[in-house]
Amino acid sequence: MEKLVSLMKRRGFAYPGSEIYGGLANAWDYGPLGAEMKMNIRNRWWNKFVRQRADIVGVETAIMMNTKVWEASGHLEKFSDPLAEDKETHRRYRLDELLEEAGVKTAGMSLGEMMRAAAEHKLKSPDGNELTEPRQFNLMLKTQLGAVADEGSATYFRPETAQGMFVNFKSVINSTRRKLPFGIAQVGKAFRNEVTPGNFIFRTREFEQMEIEYFIRPPKNEGEWREYFEEWRWTMIEWMKDLGIDVESQVHEVEVPEGERAHYSKRTIDFEFDFPFGRKELYGLAYRGDFDLKNHMEKSGEDLRYMDEDGEKFIPHVIEPTWGVDRTVLAAITAAYTEEPAPTAEEGEEEMRTVLKLPKWLAPVKVAVLPLSKKEELTTVAEPIYKELLAAGVVAEIDATQSIGKRYRRQDEIGTPYCVTVDFESLNDRAVTVRDRDTMKQKRVEVGEVAGYVKEKLNQ
Ligand code: GAP
Repeated sequence: MEKLVSLMKRRGFAYPGSEIYGGLANAWDYGPLGAEMKMNIRNRWWNKFVRQRADIVGVETAIMMNTKVWEASGHLEKFSDPLAEDKETHRRYRLDELLEEAGVKTAGMSLGEMMRAAAEHKLKSPDGNELTEPRQFNLMLKTQLGAVADEGSATYFRPETAQGMFVNFKSVINSTRRKLPFGIAQVGKAFRNEVTPGNFIFRTREFEQMEIEYFIRPPKNEGEWREYFEEWRWTMIEWMKDLGIDVESQVHEVEVPEGERAHYSKRTIDFEFDFPFGRKELYGLAYRGDFDLKNHMEKSGEDLRYMDEDGEKFIPHVIEPTWGVDRTVLAAITAAYTEEPAPTAEEGEEEMRTVLKLPKWLAPVKVAVLPLSKKEELTTVAEPIYKELLAAGVVAEIDATQSIGKRYRRQDEIGTPYCVTVDFESLNDRAVTVRDRDTMKQKRVEVGEVAGYVKEKLNQ
């Protein structure tokens, strides 16, 4: 993990948030490479699930919503973690996590049961100190809207993008005339006042989600919703493979038992990934039934039922696949991170190289143009290649500093699939060397054909 975080900071994937002011605990900013990678993830996801599917439409809804939304969704009442505080250090911990670490299975336990288990095990904080009486801590992040700070102006940042899709269900139906089954998709920020944020970008208080609410007819039997559930399960597995993750060995599907599931869920699968700090949730897939639409209908007084061709009205049920963008970045980089022997410039010599073997679509920089030296005759060949690549929409860099070996290592470390080297021979044969990141094989390509060649390779 240390190596990974160090690489990501050094190369410009992520920086500590507000760093020049000493930071803000567990807040991270994405640098140029991180921003590119996130954009690649969002675009891939949006193309795959919105643009290329006739049955899913996209929306972009507000982060701050009427407080009644959170009353109806159950988040104000139930979206909480059990919290206990170290009496000496005043550090706060999740009681369920402390109990699990002490070997107690907390699935399905109420707060009272956890308190009894804590007493039985004489549970202490990780620093060995007494803990305060535990209480439920609501994860909703509160803010104040407008000039007057009274109770009426209290507002919450959304803890999931999902509710924006439920409250717009009727508007989407009316404006798009979609027929069931169909989905609404959204990418956007969500906020949670997490008790124990940490592990770099894994758990933060501000993060990004990609979610789909997939509406189906109320199932007549178990088999009907299970079929859709299974379809989404496979779709999520395919997505993880596309990220370069070895699903068989790195992903573990966990059936979340009743009692541990979110308050709205009838069934949940967590896709856990082997992060460097342990096996943790990457994505989730839930069957939310009609929980959300039903509650919004009751609380808002609006008729949110769907009417089919026969005039029958009913509240659709929902399958919800959900993806965290930040965890996607971390999992993909973890899966891609490789240290391997590589030949040096010296014949027969080897050294270790670090290489991010990211899928080409995900790599933040696609091509690096590397003139062997800063000499003008080389840059006059390299510059037009670089500009042609940019004009063709290929994310490229040009770099003439340091030795060529060091520049290759730098590009390997950030996962650049192709390096184009302009050397003195190029002045004679009007050709350049294209180096493949993974095989390190080199191929001579004519200057005029480089952009086309690389584009074709990237699309393969
Ligand atoms: N609408 C369903 C929902 O929000 P969730 O499992 O609570 O379900 C979905 O969150 C995904 O959002 C998670 O699988 C994870 O990828 C991401 N996520 C949740 N909390 C996060 C946090 N504090 N920091 C980063 N990502 C988070």
